[in-house]
Amino acid sequence: MAHEINLLDFYPRSKRPIEERANLVTEEHRGVARQFGREFFDGNRLFGYGGYYYHPRFWQGTVRRFRNYYHLAEDASVLDVGCAKGFMLHDFKQLMPRLTIAGVDISAYAIANAMETVKPFLHVGNAKELPYREDSFDLVVSINTIHNLPLEECKEALREIQRVARQHAFITVDAWRTEEERKRFLKWNMTGLTYMHVDDWKRLFEKVGYRGDYYWFIAE
Ligand SMILES: C[S@@+](CC[C@H](N)C(=O)[O-])C[C@H]1O[C@@H](n2cnc3c(N)ncnc32)[C@H](O)[C@@H]1O
Repeated sequence: MAHEINLLDFYPRSKRPIEERANLVTEEHRGVARQFGREFFDGNRLFGYGGYYYHPRFWQGTVRRFRNYYHLAEDASVLDVGCAKGFMLHDFKQLMPRLTIAGVDISAYAIANAMETVKPFLHVGNAKELPYREDSFDLVVSINTIHNLPLEECKEALREIQRVARQHAFITVDAWRTEEERKRFLKWNMTGLTYMHVDDWKRLFEKVGYRGDYYWFIAE
């Protein structure tokens, strides 16, 4: 059964300069960001992260949270859809060395610049067409990724996550609960193509048969 649950409650929160960036970002910046190349990860802040670097405090608490919540066996298998440079999978492996890991990301740049510890397990690929058999992973995680696909492809990505997940899945997507949050989101959004009210997401999950867990990425 699908559950709304915030498993990112250990992820460090930062106060984002929404107004400041909203006034400077143009459609051209968004176009470059959506290519998910160097500019998005390690270019100027107006194109995306402004430097996407590893720090243990980002994911260490979260991977422990995943392990405990899903009671993952030491030799379980985990797929990260939208793995970028593999930071989360690296921390998973640090915590659980016997884990089988895999990562997929559309960004050839991110995979080429991934952490050496996990690079052999990462592939360039699209969330809407995962290169794995049915029921391949005990846990499939996808953080802030599938909302970057247009609606029809986002639905395919949800079905794909469900298809390759043997037991558990957890995703986070761009969403809002109030008009205030919707306005803030629209100001902040760089790459998202499918975003909606949390209730509409829940209806979509049901419609496409996504039965994993989920939570929201809300502009606050
Ligand atoms: C906001 S970043 C999140 C990265 C990472 N999950 C994290 O939380 O730090 C979104 C990621 O989704 C990837 N992405 C975008 N569209 C994708 C697609 N269709 N299939 C797979 N990955 C995609 C981007 O390259 C980028 O690494």
